[in-house]
Amino acid sequence: MRTEILPLGSDSLARAKELLLAGELVAFPTETVYGLGADARSDAAVENIYRVKGRPSDNPLIVHVHKDYDLSLLVEDDRSYAAKLREAFLPGPLTLVYKSRGRVSAKVSCGLDTLAVRVPSHPSAQEFLKYVGIPVAAPSANISKHVSPVSAQHVYDDLHGKIPLILDGGACSGGIESTVCDVTGDYPVVLRQGLVSREMIESVTGKCGLYVPKAGEQVRSPGMKYKHYAPACRTCLFEADEIGKALTCFYRNRDAGMRVLILCEEAAADNFPSDSVLRLGNTAEEMAANLYALLRDAETKADMLIAVKPHARGGVMDGVLNRLCKACAGEEK
Ligand code: TXA
Ligand code: MG
Repeated sequence: MRTEILPLGSDSLARAKELLLAGELVAFPTETVYGLGADARSDAAVENIYRVKGRPSDNPLIVHVHKDYDLSLLVEDDRSYAAKLREAFLPGPLTLVYKSRGRVSAKVSCGLDTLAVRVPSHPSAQEFLKYVGIPVAAPSANISKHVSPVSAQHVYDDLHGKIPLILDGGACSGGIESTVCDVTGDYPVVLRQGLVSREMIESVTGKCGLYVPKAGEQVRSPGMKYKHYAPACRTCLFEADEIGKALTCFYRNRDAGMRVLILCEEAAADNFPSDSVLRLGNTAEEMAANLYALLRDAETKADMLIAVKPHARGGVMDGVLNRLCKACAGEEK
């Protein structure tokens, strides 16, 4: 199958709609990462997503709708705090998990009685969703477990030959996936951290939980149990105060003939040889925006990526750290 990359316009929108209604997949930009969209009402189309990504069949998908879409068609929404969250943060990088009305394919939520709904703020995503008019199930448009795509080229690198169309909306400004927040209980509970931080939610609702799976428990957001966001090169991860250890690791592996790069915040960059540093930036928002493009850059240039955690904690930084750890942890130093 030939994969076209087209800028958003009347021709590409018409083509996207035609493909979606025929059960095919269309990748589209959002303010967080690119999504791999399918008609959420169709079992066969949703199955296509799992097949093309190689995604485990128990990891549910988010449904995307435009800002004027009538949510009551899809979900039961009986929590007043959820309306406050929509008012404060939508359209934007916050996905809310509601009780489902069962109006989309059961494969979207993998048989759960809930449905995750997202209203992205990216103008091209809004235009696309408005034009097609249907709920669009979409995970990030990468091969399962690989780094999420933040440009049309990243989507192409992972999925060319497997999908017919990528709508190109330029680089994603947000850079990490949306915050996923359960709004079925007495108060909101964050299931996946992101650009709308727990603190931001708390400031609107007064209380917000953070779901941390306990050992042996069946996870509430099944995607959390899988390794994620991993670049193809070897990786290892150091704490913010382990610069010395990171340097030792760098030289040991470089002297053994490996191409080694270091990923760290701007404030730590001067500790390392400048031609070997990938700079995450200064603020949590900058780091979120840069992280995935740097991970994808690293895997093409290096045999090994040494990541050093930034110092800051809390707010958006927690989402950045969560992704950095999932991408780079797991290897012995
Ligand atoms: O920013 C984003 O959210 C991007 C763009 C494309 O919108 N999408 C994305 O989708 O990151 P994906 O499939 O890579 O991650 C979806 C997350 C998973 O962690 C999944 O477990 C969780 O949402 N999720 C989906 N439906 C759920 C549900 N009903 N209950 C709990 N968690 C759910
Ligand atoms: Mg994903």
